[in-house]
Amino acid sequence: MANEKVYIFDTTLRDGEQVPGCKLNTEEKIKLALELEDLGVDIIEAGFPVSSPGDFRSVDEISKVITKSTVVGLTRAVQNDIEVAAQALKHAVMPRIHTGIGSSDNHIKYKFNATREQILERAVAAVKLARNLVPEVEFYAEDAGRADLEFLAQLVEATIAAGATILNIPDTTGSCLPHEYQGKMEYLMTHVSNIDKAILSCHCHNDLGLATANSIAGAIGGARQIECTINGIGERAGNTSLEEVVMVIKKHPSLNLYTNIDTTKLLPMSRLVSDTMRMMVQPNKAVVGDNAFSHSSGIHQDGFLKEATTYEIIAPHEVGADASHIVLTARSGRSALAYRFKNLGYEFDRNQVDDLYQQFLAVADAKKEVEDSDLREMADKVVANV
Ligand code: KIV
Ligand code: ZN
Repeated sequence: MANEKVYIFDTTLRDGEQVPGCKLNTEEKIKLALELEDLGVDIIEAGFPVSSPGDFRSVDEISKVITKSTVVGLTRAVQNDIEVAAQALKHAVMPRIHTGIGSSDNHIKYKFNATREQILERAVAAVKLARNLVPEVEFYAEDAGRADLEFLAQLVEATIAAGATILNIPDTTGSCLPHEYQGKMEYLMTHVSNIDKAILSCHCHNDLGLATANSIAGAIGGARQIECTINGIGERAGNTSLEEVVMVIKKHPSLNLYTNIDTTKLLPMSRLVSDTMRMMVQPNKAVVGDNAFSHSSGIHQDGFLKEATTYEIIAPHEVGADASHIVLTARSGRSALAYRFKNLGYEFDRNQVDDLYQQFLAVADAKKEVEDSDLREMADKVVANV
């Protein structure tokens, strides 16, 4: 089977920016958008133009500078939202309106106080209006994760007939299990008569820590677009992490999928977003966390020093990291210690390493992590006594 492309739709500047306290100004958003384009992101969701003059300006300015990626403006299924988004996108080389409405009975009842029929009508009208204003329309069926499957299929079919060519199936509350989310995509692929005219998109939230697993399951089920954010930032527990889905796809050729992302730019991109938004990345974060390429236990260090692939399935340079790190703690063994001494320019025989190891353990127990300066002090004493 030939490899098929999964389009990467980045929503760091829209869903990601909904993180409390992480508001970006227009200049910061333009800078990030240019870097996202350089990373190889196919589609950049630049904002929600009707939500504020600042968001309108960001979408407008980003539309002027982005030439290779599609630029997206989010709307509700509301006439004014759609008209304002079309205005904000007027300079974009490839503009897309992302419009939608709640699809679960919960949203239909509590958010819209409406019936399924009314939701269908509003969805179709929104897509038709958007399609008259821009060449490409994506429809989101909000809270699709909890929606009735037959109604979801009806909504998807009707909005494709109205002109949407990308159908977003959001797990808005992050409630699905991977096999359920995959099953939804499979159902839509087989029960929507005009599905060949559109692609399905995964948009998963991380409330149960399943956003990446669900997005990959969705792609296995037939979706060909994944919506995600750098570092997985976003509402509540966040969105699907871009770097994770991209590396899962890269590391699993049996999926027969690929993306356009230059993975060597992932770590610099992660750092840029973290610094610009002043939002720290957890050290154990997959792919881009500070500890993602650090080895601290003796057993792992020994294996890693013999052959890196014993404990690393990603080589640091694949994601733009400089090197793996051996962290010296009381769990480290003699081989890691000898290796670090060698890196610092000291060659010791086995007996010397044995002696140094006892001193090292004493420091490690006292300090948790042993620094190069501690090692130099120990090594210089040995050298002076020889
Ligand atoms: O999570 C969600 O449902 C969304 C939509 C607005 C696409 O972010
Ligand atoms: Zn979302």
